[in-house]
Amino acid sequence: MRILDTINGNIGTDSTSVPIWFMRQAGRYLPEYKALRATTSDFISYCLDSDKAVEATLQPIRRYDLDAAIVFSDILLIPWAMGYDLRFEEGKGPILTPPKNPAEIPETAPEAIKTRLAPIGKTIKKTRTQLAKDKALIGFCGAPWTVSTYIIEGGTSRDFTKTKKCLWQNRPNFNHLIDALITHSIEFLVMQARSGADILMIFDSWAGIVPGAHQKSYIFETTARIIAGVRARNITAPIIAFPKGFCGNFTDYVQTTKCDVLAIDHTICPAWLNAQLPKNIPVQGNLDPMAVEIGGKTMLECAADICDAFKTRPHIFNLGHGMGQHTPPENVAELVNFLRAPESTRTSTRTSKRESPKGEK
Ligand code: CP3
Repeated sequence: MRILDTINGNIGTDSTSVPIWFMRQAGRYLPEYKALRATTSDFISYCLDSDKAVEATLQPIRRYDLDAAIVFSDILLIPWAMGYDLRFEEGKGPILTPPKNPAEIPETAPEAIKTRLAPIGKTIKKTRTQLAKDKALIGFCGAPWTVSTYIIEGGTSRDFTKTKKCLWQNRPNFNHLIDALITHSIEFLVMQARSGADILMIFDSWAGIVPGAHQKSYIFETTARIIAGVRARNITAPIIAFPKGFCGNFTDYVQTTKCDVLAIDHTICPAWLNAQLPKNIPVQGNLDPMAVEIGGKTMLECAADICDAFKTRPHIFNLGHGMGQHTPPENVAELVNFLRAPESTRTSTRTSKRESPKGEK
């Protein structure tokens, strides 16, 4: 598998061997996804219907021949399996009934959680039989901090007031929730790897809002504990960690968490990161999803710059966050064709970037 070769340090001779996949590659920007999604109104039932989930997982692979599929599921399935009341509303996103006290974790036995999440294992098994052998299947979970924000806020938030209050004022309660999420995340990842996931990924989508004084405990240590827990169960699949919004010491983050691949968002300057991170650490990222929505030269130049910055290290091409809902699918096809084409053809798109504005020498 091209993506596993890269993670193992075989970076190939030219950039056409850069493995490619996209966060939220399955989603509402694809007409075939929208058609499939319309057959089940409730999003959780849809995720748990393994026939539909296999189809949603494979749709972007059929269209773009990407190097990895990501199992169709959601980071909020753990809170759902724990017994939190979760629903998804059109235009509003996820809505959870927040507990009055975050210490009031629904008492759910780990066995019950495993049973409730078993359909995801089934999706992985079925997908693996239909996916070409040279393509990787990625299983995932959310990082504890990120998942805790959805539980405590009751959904997506602008300012994360409740989560931060809980963190600063109610540490034992907050830690109780984080500990439970770590335990369940380990079980969920182990189950996905045992079902056939080749790679695992931990999404810390809200790492960027953790106050600095707490970053070590709630961004580094939480992910480190999950990875150690997964390894203690003899799972060897590489683990990608995505601390979105974090912009501190990435080398320390990789060394502390022991992740195999560092995924970065689009606010990180590739050249800056490349200069500070030891050369053997694989990086995944980091095209701005908006550049793909815009398409054309903007997108291609930005993609070429990213490949260029990371050309001497293992690099997996991806976006800096999920594919936007309004992305034209043909832009994605153009991007993949461009990345797979020999570099000599790529340079022609870059002339305008080097042109000086009128009148300048
Ligand atoms: O291709 C893939 O990446 C598919 C699998 C996938 C989904 N969610 C499906 C989904 C993955 C990897 C996720 C991760 C996820 N879910 C994250 C981490 C990545 C990120 O975006 O930061 C987060 C924070 C969530 C929580 C979540 N799920 C939200 C906030 C929403 C609503 C926002 C939205 O886009 O509607 C969801 C719903 C969701 N999860 C959709 C999809 C395709 C859209 C809902 C639909 O199709 O009806």
